[in-house]
Amino acid sequence: MRRSLVAANWKMHGSREFVEELLGALTRELATQSEEVEIVVCPPSPYLSLCKEILRSSPVLLGAQNAHEASSGAYTGEVAAQMLNDFDVAMVIIGHSERRALFAETDAQIAAKCQSVVAQGMSPILCVGETLQEREAGQAEAVVARQLNAVLEALPIASMSDAVIAYEPVWAIGTGKTATPAQAQEMHAFIRSLLAKRDSVMAENMRILYGGSVNASNAAQLFAEQDIDGGLVGGASLKPEEFITICKSVSK
Ligand code: 13P
Repeated sequence: MRRSLVAANWKMHGSREFVEELLGALTRELATQSEEVEIVVCPPSPYLSLCKEILRSSPVLLGAQNAHEASSGAYTGEVAAQMLNDFDVAMVIIGHSERRALFAETDAQIAAKCQSVVAQGMSPILCVGETLQEREAGQAEAVVARQLNAVLEALPIASMSDAVIAYEPVWAIGTGKTATPAQAQEMHAFIRSLLAKRDSVMAENMRILYGGSVNASNAAQLFAEQDIDGGLVGGASLKPEEFITICKSVSK
């Protein structure tokens, strides 16, 4: 049985006061969270230390938003997976569509990043998803398959056993336009079928999150779908009450 996961992607938002306030509320409210759901918060890197301190005795896990593929070197402004590991980071978002679009990350680079994350014993949250133009051209599945297969072909399949996949249709990110539960379920089932071609047990155990305008009103319906194992939440994860409601919307 897959344990549900709700991941907060704070993107480039926050301040010291904000982090203290938000995590204070989360740790109070989620101190006795149900065993059914795992929760991870992914702050901007400068706040990892503060978050680690606040989450010390909390079941809420710490995550990060990106890692460079190299273990060290002359890459000004970048952060290595090993450095994240020093802060007890459990999961790292890799290949977010904003990184693909704004920072020109390629499928090959994203595969290398996943490799550096798993080499440190952490779980990549690998993001895949099509643009509106690609969906309208009937290419949604082909795009998602290309993005996923690039990683599955580069890494030994066994190394991906603790990975998480996040399906984030680009047209639903930050737009208030959510994929319908049926649309999301269809793509999640497709992703699981791609995984099953390589390893059926891994496919059954892999958590596949939905991301794209998840909020307190739509989370329960989305999470009720058979192949949706939780969410990767952007904007709504910055509002404590709303994020807590989303975490409590997991019913499987
Ligand atoms: P929103 O929830 O703000 O649409 O962002 C989704 C996202 O990009 C999470 O990674």
